[in-house]
Amino acid sequence: MQIVVGVTGGIAAYKAAEIVRRLIKAGHEVQVVMTEGAKAFVMPMTFQALSGRPVRDALLDPQAEQGMGHIELARWADLILIAPASANCLARLAAGMADDLLTTVVLASRAPLYIAPAMNQVMWESPLTARNVRQLSEVRGNVTVLGPDQGEQACGDVGPGRLLEPDALVEQLLALNSPGAAARSADMDMRGLTVVITSGPTRERLDPVRYLSNDSSGKMGFALAAAAQTRGAKVILVAGPVHLPTPAGVSRMDIESAREMQEAVMSVISAADIFIGAAAVADFRPVLSQSQKIKKSGDQTLELKLEQNPDILAGVAALDNAPFTVGFAAETQNLETYARDKLTRKRLRMIIGNNVSRADIGFNSEYNEVLVITPSSTTPIDRQLKSELAGVLMDQIMREFNALSRSSG
Ligand SMILES: Cc1cc2nc3c(=O)[nH]c(=O)nc-3n(C[C@H](O)[C@H](O)[C@H](O)COP(=O)(O)O)c2cc1C
Repeated sequence: MQIVVGVTGGIAAYKAAEIVRRLIKAGHEVQVVMTEGAKAFVMPMTFQALSGRPVRDALLDPQAEQGMGHIELARWADLILIAPASANCLARLAAGMADDLLTTVVLASRAPLYIAPAMNQVMWESPLTARNVRQLSEVRGNVTVLGPDQGEQACGDVGPGRLLEPDALVEQLLALNSPGAAARSADMDMRGLTVVITSGPTRERLDPVRYLSNDSSGKMGFALAAAAQTRGAKVILVAGPVHLPTPAGVSRMDIESAREMQEAVMSVISAADIFIGAAAVADFRPVLSQSQKIKKSGDQTLELKLEQNPDILAGVAALDNAPFTVGFAAETQNLETYARDKLTRKRLRMIIGNNVSRADIGFNSEYNEVLVITPSSTTPIDRQLKSELAGVLMDQIMREFNALSRSSG
C-alpha cells in the first residue's frame, strides 16, 4: 500500500519512527508528512532514512510542488495515518482547515484516514477534543480512531491519551486493511447507522451515602461502543457509574439509577437503528430512598423493602418501530436456557449470554466468553479480550441486522 504518515507536534512523535520502520518492513511505501510542530520534536532526517523518501513538510514550497504536488500526494495515498495526532491537528481537521501540507492532503483525499491521538489526558477528555473527533468522523467519514491507550503520560499524569504502542498500532492498521477486510467491511460498515448502547451498573440509593449496585465494570459496553464507532456508526453510550474513558467520537450520557437510565435511553431511542443493552440494570430499588443518612437504632436488623425497576430492554423491544434490539444475559447457571428464555420473553433479536460465576471472564474481567443467541441459532464465541470480542460481536450483530433489513425491505 502507499501510505501517507502524518506526524504532528507531540512528545510521542519519536514513536512515529518505529511506526514508519514497521510499515516499511511490512512491504509498504511510506511518505512522511511532518507539521511544523512535529519538527520541534524529531528531525526529518530520521524519517527520510527510515522511509527512503525525503520528508514533506511545506505546503507553499515551489520545488516540492514541481515534483509530487499536494494534490498528487493526496491521490497517491491508499490510506493516511496520522500518528501521533495532536489535539491541535484534530481541531484543524475537524474544522476542514487546509493551512499546512498535512491538513491540505487530508482535505484533498478520500482515502481512509486513521488517526492515533496522543496528548495529555485532560486535553483528550476535553469536550472540545471529543467534539472534534466526532465531527471529523461524522462529517468526513472513513475515519478510524486508533487508541489512545491509558497509562502514565510524559507530563506525569496517569490516564487516557497515550499513543498506542507502535507494534499494536501497526498490527491494528494492517489487520483493518488485510485482504478480506474489504469484503468483510462492506457488510460490517455501520456508516449512517445510530447505535444506542447502555453500559455499566446502576446504583439504587438507600440514602445519600449508600446504594444497592452490582459488580459490572462497563468494559464490555464501552468496548462495543468503540467497535461501532470504528465501523462508522454514530454511537450514544448511556453509562452507569464506571471508571472508564469515553471512546473517541462517542457521545456519552452519564446516569446513576435504572430510572435515569430508562429516561436517557427513551430520550434518544427514536433515532436508533440498533439498541444494545449491555448495562447490568438493577432489577429492584428501595421503595424508600431516605433523604438523610440512615442512623443506627436499637434494632439489630433493618428491613429493606424493594420494588421492581422498569425493564429498559423489554420496553425498547416493545416500541413501535423498535430498533434492532440486543440484550445481555449474565447468568450463573443454565446459561443457554435462561438466555434463550429472556430472548423470547422480551422479544429481542439477539441475546449475548455470559457466565458470571467464573472469575476468569465476565464482570470486572478483561476477558469474556459468550453465547450469541438468536431466535434461530446459538453460536459460542471463545474466551478473548473484551476489546477483541466487541469486534466479533459487532460483526454478528451486523450480519443479523443486514439479514433482517434485506428480508423486510
Ligand atoms: C513539550 C511539549 C509537548 C507537547 N505534547 C503534546 C502532545 O503530546 N499532544 C498534543 O496534542 N499537543 C502537544 N503539545 C502542544 C502542540 O505541540 C501544539 O499544540 C502544536 O501547535 C501542535 O501543532 P501541530 O498539530 O501542527 O503539530 C506539546 C507542546 C510542548 C511544548
